[in-house]
Amino acid sequence: MNSDLRQRRKVARTALPTAVLLLISSAVAVQSSAPAAAAETTLRAAAANAGLFFGVAASPNRLYPIVGQEFSQLTPENDMKPDRIATSSGGLQNTSGADTLVNHAQSNNMLVRGHTLVWHSQAGALQGASQATLNTFIGNAINRWGSRIAYWDVVNEALEDNNTGRRRNQWPHSMNRDANGDGDFFDAGDTDVIRDSFIRAKQVVQAGGLTTKLCINDYDVDGLTVQGGTPNRKANALYDIVRNYRQYIDCVGFQAHFNDNPNSIITDDIQANIQRFADLGVEVHITELDIDDDLSNNDIGAGQAENYRKVVRACLNVAQCTGITVWGISDSESWRSSERGLLFTGGNGSYQKKAAYHAVLDELNKGRNSTPPPSTPPVTPSVPPTTPPVDPTTPPPPTTPPTTGCSATVSLNSWTGGFVATVRVTAGTAPISGWSVQLTLPSGATVTNAWNANRSGSSGTVQFSNVSYNGSVNAGQSTEFGFQGTGTATGLTPVCTAT
Ligand code: G3I
Repeated sequence: MNSDLRQRRKVARTALPTAVLLLISSAVAVQSSAPAAAAETTLRAAAANAGLFFGVAASPNRLYPIVGQEFSQLTPENDMKPDRIATSSGGLQNTSGADTLVNHAQSNNMLVRGHTLVWHSQAGALQGASQATLNTFIGNAINRWGSRIAYWDVVNEALEDNNTGRRRNQWPHSMNRDANGDGDFFDAGDTDVIRDSFIRAKQVVQAGGLTTKLCINDYDVDGLTVQGGTPNRKANALYDIVRNYRQYIDCVGFQAHFNDNPNSIITDDIQANIQRFADLGVEVHITELDIDDDLSNNDIGAGQAENYRKVVRACLNVAQCTGITVWGISDSESWRSSERGLLFTGGNGSYQKKAAYHAVLDELNKGRNSTPPPSTPPVTPSVPPTTPPVDPTTPPPPTTPPTTGCSATVSLNSWTGGFVATVRVTAGTAPISGWSVQLTLPSGATVTNAWNANRSGSSGTVQFSNVSYNGSVNAGQSTEFGFQGTGTATGLTPVCTAT
């Protein structure tokens, strides 16, 4: 954990009165004992209903049944890092652990996040390599697994600690040059490892016709602000990078290694930060979620559960937040074992669910765009509401015929020359197990990318269909997908068909 996180935890622990903590604890107890009706019973199923994946970081020796049961996405915790698989010339070696993980994910219908290609840490034989060698490695790694990797962390942890908003100054970022001295590395004459690595990755993806999406991943970038309301300069710097290199970057990862400080996780703050990245047209993922359980509060995991709930809610409330990944299964097997940051206790395949697990499951089951849970239980009226007497002369109200199949609505976020469309697919009176949505774009409009859906066509009549994790939608429930395009896309009329 970085020093900033530790500092934040220290300040707020002393600031929060015990009464407030007790209130939060009792609210959590009420919520977790009253899950929503017809709720899903696994994280992956509940997440799928809400239109996102729920993943886990894993190692080949921890591929217990729970991995495929609870999770729909897998990130190799260490087995795809350069110190495992890269040779000094950018070739590949020792890929058996990574292969095992990719195969396991595939046979369990899980997405894979490749982690990671360009990183100052765990660089192994690549440490000190030139951009040309990095490019060789990028090509070899992406091509080895191709579209079996849904998302690659192309660049990891490029920004400095302590909220400076600057790039790191050690290798590989020491190769950067600010040619015109204007304080950034975005100009054509500048050298920027981030840009050059993404350009290379994009070339490889396009040349191979791959569906792999390319992500930038970092920590302490989760909220708009840091403790005390100070602007999160690190998040702002990441935003500038994505805005400048939007043509090469498809997705952003917020690692989300949090502590147990109730003040450090503010749903609205995280949600607004996710939203501004989403407005750039990229997918956002919570990629390495874990949250300390600070037992000094004697809240027996309730504070931690509440914090998990807040992070999940922030993601759920933004349609382009398409996945959450926890950084391991169980506390004892985590890189932060002493901080009890995960959703399960136990080990070696025998795991017990914590309060945090139930909070996450419950929040996922509420779906997207639910308001945050009340902090006090609802008051039961002492006098039951009276039923109005029925007038026998009044005809019964018209009944709406049940709609089977599905319907779709679209909302647009447009700017001069471009747009992002969010399409909500809602099942009728019966559950559906797959869907497709057809819509016709005005002349001159072109779809450039889509998330949470397969797409055929890019202009005129365009067809979208569900991906593996969002085809099943319960009666009356919804899932969302999105796409970005150039031109103008007003007046879209989506037609939904259950498949
Ligand atoms: O496999 C060796 C083992 O053979 C040896 O006996 C043992 C002795 O220390 O070390 C083992 O390797 C360790 C490896 O984890 C596998 O357990 C390394 O020492 C240890 O440094 C390594 O830690 C990993 C850490 O990244 C390294 O930076 C953690 O497992 C991993 O969870 C962590 O993941 C990072 C993400 O990649 C990026 N974001 C932060 C996150 C947490 O630090």
